[in-house]
Amino acid sequence: MEQTTINLVQESFEKVKPIASTAADIFYTKLFELDPALKPLFPTDKAGAMVEQGNKLMTMLGAAVAGLSNMDALIPVLKGLGKRHVDYKVEPSHYETVGAALLGTLEAGLGDEFTSEVKEAWTTVYGAMSGVMIEAAY
Ligand code: HEM
Repeated sequence: MEQTTINLVQESFEKVKPIASTAADIFYTKLFELDPALKPLFPTDKAGAMVEQGNKLMTMLGAAVAGLSNMDALIPVLKGLGKRHVDYKVEPSHYETVGAALLGTLEAGLGDEFTSEVKEAWTTVYGAMSGVMIEAAY
């Protein structure tokens, strides 16, 4: 992966971090707008479960973003994560929907700073991450 891509993703993620819980909120709203059928996959019945889920998402994204410079170490982590997602009833096509919700969230969170370069960089990074997860799992 190109260093400029990594830098753009890492810098823009830093800007989203302070609004992580808002971002998580936007993310799930967008995700369930795009595909309401995904709702039952998440444990919304438990109080605070979505907050926790949002934290998981941001923590994992954070770890992945931080690890981009060392893809060799990141790949086995993503493979395991992809396999666990089969147990969560996640299907390959869901990755595209989650990617769209993620990009929409970044756009809402970053405003003018969500430039076409930033968008392209995140598309590359999410595509690489989900590609490894899908390949390992299905
Ligand atoms: C790059 C893509 C993704 C990342 C980084 C990611 C990250 C995570 C993490 C860190 C967890 C916590 C559990 C664990 O570590 O096994 C998790 C759980 C989960 N993810 Fe993902 N995920 C991704 C894609 C998706 C997609 C495409 C879906 C489809 C809707 C999805 C749905 C879920 C569900 C349903 C759970 C379990 C919820 C629960 O029982 O708490 N994820 N994800």
